[in-house]
Amino acid sequence: MQLITQYIEQHKQRLLDELFDLLRFQSVSADPKYKQDILKTADFVAEKLRDAGAQNVEVCQTAGNPIVYGEKMIDASKPTVLVYGHYDVQPPDPLELWKTPPFEPTIRNGKIYARGACDDKGQFYMHVKAFELMVQTGTLPCNIKFMIEGEEEVGSSNLGIFVNQNKSRLKADVVLISDTSMISMEHPSLETGLRGLSYVEVEVTGPNRDLHSGVYGGAVANPATILAKMIASMHDENNHITIPGFYNNVIDLTTEERKALNNAPYDEDEYKKDLGVDELWGEKGYTTFERTGTRPTLEVNGIWGGYTGEGAKTVLPSAARAKISMRLVPNQGFEEVTKLFTDHFEKIAPRSVKVKITPHHGGEPAVTPTDSIAYRAAQKAIKESFGKEPIPTRGGGSIPIVALFEAELGIKTVLMGFGLDSDALHSPNEKYDIFNYYKGIETIPLFHKYFAELNRD
Ligand code: BES
Ligand code: MN
Ligand code: MN
Repeated sequence: MQLITQYIEQHKQRLLDELFDLLRFQSVSADPKYKQDILKTADFVAEKLRDAGAQNVEVCQTAGNPIVYGEKMIDASKPTVLVYGHYDVQPPDPLELWKTPPFEPTIRNGKIYARGACDDKGQFYMHVKAFELMVQTGTLPCNIKFMIEGEEEVGSSNLGIFVNQNKSRLKADVVLISDTSMISMEHPSLETGLRGLSYVEVEVTGPNRDLHSGVYGGAVANPATILAKMIASMHDENNHITIPGFYNNVIDLTTEERKALNNAPYDEDEYKKDLGVDELWGEKGYTTFERTGTRPTLEVNGIWGGYTGEGAKTVLPSAARAKISMRLVPNQGFEEVTKLFTDHFEKIAPRSVKVKITPHHGGEPAVTPTDSIAYRAAQKAIKESFGKEPIPTRGGGSIPIVALFEAELGIKTVLMGFGLDSDALHSPNEKYDIFNYYKGIETIPLFHKYFAELNRD
């Protein structure tokens, strides 16, 4: 442990400077105009892996954004850890709400502000630097493989193909990912599950052109009103989702599991205060942890139509649109839920409009074991660096590759994230605490150490 903290102390500034270089790349995967930045970021990650001591480093081309691979195989008889992360980031919009520009990392109050600071550049880069540390101090205890992709924020569709075509190259005993949150630094935790996702876009069309709302309003259905009604009808008075069959395969947690989950520290007043809301909302009969971690949900991610510019324009829009996503829990399947949604949305549409549904990406839910050697290694590592036993939690977000790794390669994952829900992932002013960054670099070598040790026992 002392060796680790000493190394971090000695290289403190450089470890931070390199992360800043990484954060300056505008690697937004959702918008093709950033393609050149994406390619440059992949090259940068490859170079940094090589510098840290990785071999067989390759920027692997796919039909989409490249995947960066690298490895260091020290001994075939030792276990292998596959580190996964993503170098792509969410769009920085709305730009005007950033206090400092999203791609000019800035420190305020000990926190790094930049798009991707936490999700996931700040987090996967800890692994690159922890690896460098282990190589430089001669303490790498197991084989290590890196797979850092560039399409996580848009559904990882090409990664599935890559994983399928590279099964032997990716062979490992465990997948290690830092792309999730902890409860807080005082209450370190390990996520033991992720929700799945089904993302669709809907279009409701009425008249063949925008109309004068005085001349035609009241006689022709307004697609915006109809869409709003259709969306509103998808939750009942208890905030249950009304799509028939939606809950069919949902596995209810046992009383013990619910109890354990709700044991984690939670301050409702703090939670509300942080978000600026006076009251919480959600499915009746469930706590906040249950609502976000173990229950499926449906959210409107965007809704538009008609005139949204400056001033007023009296128009009855020809069409209205929305982006809608559903978070899924075990044992729901994303293809199946997408079909249930599509059928339902078509069925509830009145004859006064036409609807079109376009599925986007999706991913299956996943739970990670808590009785494995790898999970115990993560527990021991966190206990040692934080001085506290980590609390198991269920995360509300999605990382589609986790279920895919298990299905394609039969490998389970450990989610050892160091972010905080308050880090504003996907929001303006995303941040990552410098403390968390160094803490991660400190904890990761301990994971490898205990993983190798426990495998020997
Ligand atoms: N790192 C997040 C997922 C996450 C965040 C998990 C916080 C647990 C806690 C990831 O980058 C992400 O944002 N995933 C997307 C899914 C993807 C298919 C667009 C998500 O959850 O919306
Ligand atoms: Mn992420
Ligand atoms: Mn994300």
